[in-house]
Amino acid sequence: MKAVILSGGKATRLRPLTCNTPKIMVPVLNRPFLAHLVDYLKRHQVTELILAMGEVPEQVRAYLGVGGGFGVEIAYSSEQSPLGTAGAVKNTEELLRETFVVFNGDIFTDIDLTGMIEWHRRKGAIATIALTPVDDPTVYGVVETDAKDRVRRFTEKPSRDEVTTNMINAGIYVLEPSILTCIRPGVFTMFERDVFPLLLERGEAIYGFASRDYWIDIGTPESYFKLNEDLLHRHIGAKGLRVERQCSVQPSVRIDGPVLIGEGSCVGDGCVLLGPSILGKGCRIDEGALVQRSLLWDDCTVGDGARVRNCLLSSCCRVGRGSALDGCILGDKVTIGANNELPQGVRIWPGKCIDDHAISFQPWSNQEAAKKQGILDVE
Ligand code: GTP
Repeated sequence: MKAVILSGGKATRLRPLTCNTPKIMVPVLNRPFLAHLVDYLKRHQVTELILAMGEVPEQVRAYLGVGGGFGVEIAYSSEQSPLGTAGAVKNTEELLRETFVVFNGDIFTDIDLTGMIEWHRRKGAIATIALTPVDDPTVYGVVETDAKDRVRRFTEKPSRDEVTTNMINAGIYVLEPSILTCIRPGVFTMFERDVFPLLLERGEAIYGFASRDYWIDIGTPESYFKLNEDLLHRHIGAKGLRVERQCSVQPSVRIDGPVLIGEGSCVGDGCVLLGPSILGKGCRIDEGALVQRSLLWDDCTVGDGARVRNCLLSSCCRVGRGSALDGCILGDKVTIGANNELPQGVRIWPGKCIDDHAISFQPWSNQEAAKKQGILDVE
């Protein structure tokens, strides 16, 4: 079966992580998100994948190629300007002759796609939409169904008193090719706003496939972190530690899992790693530094006595000796000089450099002082 993976959005909410890295390539447990998605689709015998993006980044082609290395077939479909979710699928029409799947390229889920495809066929639907429950439906598009699971209404961001269900559109569809006839080529069109409501008006059979299986979209820094945290728990255990090949971790390092240390990383004397945290490949954490509840992509460096808490660092970031970061998001190749304390929650764009002592000096570089203040309690 074929799937169109929608991955041509702007990914603004994940910036600066996504300034130079497409959302489908952000690392999750040290593998590009796309690799997890391909694994999932393969498990459900969906092996002919069409990546619908703006201009296909070289990074994606270099990683996936035509899919042989992953046991799937990959085709690419590009858009000169964004065509919207439905417009992007229309753009691939010539490849879609039979029932197919559409998948938002930022969703990680355990939803039973095989069961959903069977259900779609059994119901004789023109479209089946996966539905997932959320705590607060007022910020989503909710989908109301009747007792036989047929979709009755779509409501965008309902007010509290309008809420009749907490089931939202999960961004996964099984569709019949005939649906493409109601989308105009080259025109920005969205499934949720334009196509599905039109089909309902025409009395077409749209069904909801409700599932309580794990579902998350990695559209925000919080949910991106949450997916990594959940998968650490799933694969490494709530307090677990996984150290990949060719790492050097000094015996004095204190680790409180779950922590994943990527291939070729070095963790120096007296460091503290508190989970959930992930170090990418080739990271270097120098003497007495603290990494807590943070994700570091490949080739990051944290200097002596520096503290990185609740942070997301893209590839090749350098945090200078004695600096302190809390809740910060750094684009790739950001350099923070020594002895800076960044304001909580700042986002720093790729390639920026902050000089030594530029922002609010704190004496964290002195490990003894840090220990006294309870920041590093190395036994
Ligand atoms: P934000 O800018 O942070 O809202 O992210 P986004 O642009 O990725 O938007 P959104 O979460 O609404 O998109 C859901 C999925 O649809 C993502 O995987 C997007 O890449 C994809 N998508 C959204 N718009 C388009 C489009 O115009 N073309 C294509 N091919 N995919 C799209």
